[in-house]
Amino acid sequence: NASTNVAAFQMRNALNALSETVPDPKLRKRFEAEMDNFFTLFRRFLNDRAKGSILSWERIAPPQPNQVVDYSQLGNSASVEFLNKLAVLKLNGGLGTSMGCVGPKSVIEVRDGMSFLDLSVRQIEYLNRTYNVNVPFVLMNSFNTDEDTQSIIKKYEGHNIDIITFNQSRYPRVLKDSLLPAPKTYSSPISDWYPPGHGDVFESLYNSGTLDKLLGRGVEILFLSNADNLGAVVDLRILQHMVDSKSEYIMELTDKTKADVKGGTIIDYDGRVRLLEIAQVPKEHVNEFKAIKKFKYFNTNNIWMNLRAIKRVVEENELEMEIIPNEKSIPADKKGEADISIIQLETAVGAAIRHFRNAHGVNVPRRRFLPVKTCSDLMLVKSDLYSLQHGQLIIDPNRFGGAPIIKLGSDFKKVSDFQRRIPSIPRIVELDHLTITGAVTLGRGVTLKGIVIIVATESSTIEIPTGSVLENCVVQGSLRI
Ligand code: UTP
Repeated sequence: NASTNVAAFQMRNALNALSETVPDPKLRKRFEAEMDNFFTLFRRFLNDRAKGSILSWERIAPPQPNQVVDYSQLGNSASVEFLNKLAVLKLNGGLGTSMGCVGPKSVIEVRDGMSFLDLSVRQIEYLNRTYNVNVPFVLMNSFNTDEDTQSIIKKYEGHNIDIITFNQSRYPRVLKDSLLPAPKTYSSPISDWYPPGHGDVFESLYNSGTLDKLLGRGVEILFLSNADNLGAVVDLRILQHMVDSKSEYIMELTDKTKADVKGGTIIDYDGRVRLLEIAQVPKEHVNEFKAIKKFKYFNTNNIWMNLRAIKRVVEENELEMEIIPNEKSIPADKKGEADISIIQLETAVGAAIRHFRNAHGVNVPRRRFLPVKTCSDLMLVKSDLYSLQHGQLIIDPNRFGGAPIIKLGSDFKKVSDFQRRIPSIPRIVELDHLTITGAVTLGRGVTLKGIVIIVATESSTIEIPTGSVLENCVVQGSLRI
């Protein structure tokens, strides 16, 4: 296709020109390698665009029984033998912007003055102490998060934990109209660049030299998860299963509920496991995709991988993860001009599943998936529903069933607003459902039970007094007790 070739040619020239602007020859080499990887991604994006959707819906089937193993079927081994070959990696390239925070998401305070990062460190320290091992803690930062992360992890220098960091790639955002790179030079503003999703972990591990460094330490297995998932603790049974099944890649899945119908799911495609994301599903099949019956599980992004296999797929250029084009706008160069539409091409680590041998899913209990995407999630993990044990959140044994559903309105979107409106987290062990919308504040020592709905209508405020016990009730309108 001629227009695809022209766009590729122009991008290649523009990337070459960008390389010329790198001041230091050593930096330039790394930059060129990065731009080569970006160019491969860009060319694939152009080809996909010309060809249309790649997955044929008729060939998509729910996974075969042997493609998803149930956690309860795994051996009960508590073998620590393989801990010496393990490294734990947290994906730490993302910012806390969606929760109204500046800086890395992982530095948001979760409990007792400790952030996601602090709690993950506690988990690893506890593991190392308990089994007398030295599992390294690896962080994949991005140019957005590295500086803050470095200054925060300094406090662990004297600790008995090896923290290894590396940076993921910095790719140029693409101007939507011209399909040319947004940055004009190597030192163009950071809003011209982006971290290309966690699928970048393979090339970044390799290019940064971290992969060889870990292999050199005797590491063979990498356990990776989202920085905000405090449920992703090292599990010896899965580790043992990884070894026993000679699997190069294991994706932890969990049962899909009505609350997570949008999550990526594992599928069988011509006899191989693959990840299917909602973005790849044709409109007419979206309801089928979301149905809990047909696709029962979703990807937790807790992923176990064999390090040598990662090296192989990178060196043999096998990786072809589905591209997720993410459209955004950035402020114009000059004041008064319209914002500029850009596309950033991203990939997800789960999409690499099809490149690995004996890759399969393990259906794990929900407790291994405890993400914090919103302040509603934050309220849950901060509450008395969980207690903190060595950085791990343990659900109250008196709790009947899973976690309650909490829906906080837009007045609680930013962490700062959430903290101002709910300065002390209510007791929720007996809560099933909570909805709060509008300008509501909670006093201290509030208890919520059953189904509680608090709605402050526009221009009104509701203050729930200190010590209140609300059980199965609706509080509405404007209230000041
Ligand atoms: P995502 O941005 O992919 O997910 O970050 P999300 O918005 O939290 O929501 P879901 O889970 O997709 O629904 C998941 C993890 O990946 C890291 C983030 O820091 C987070 O820990 N991440 C994301 C990177 O390390 N690099 C990236 O380029 C993107």
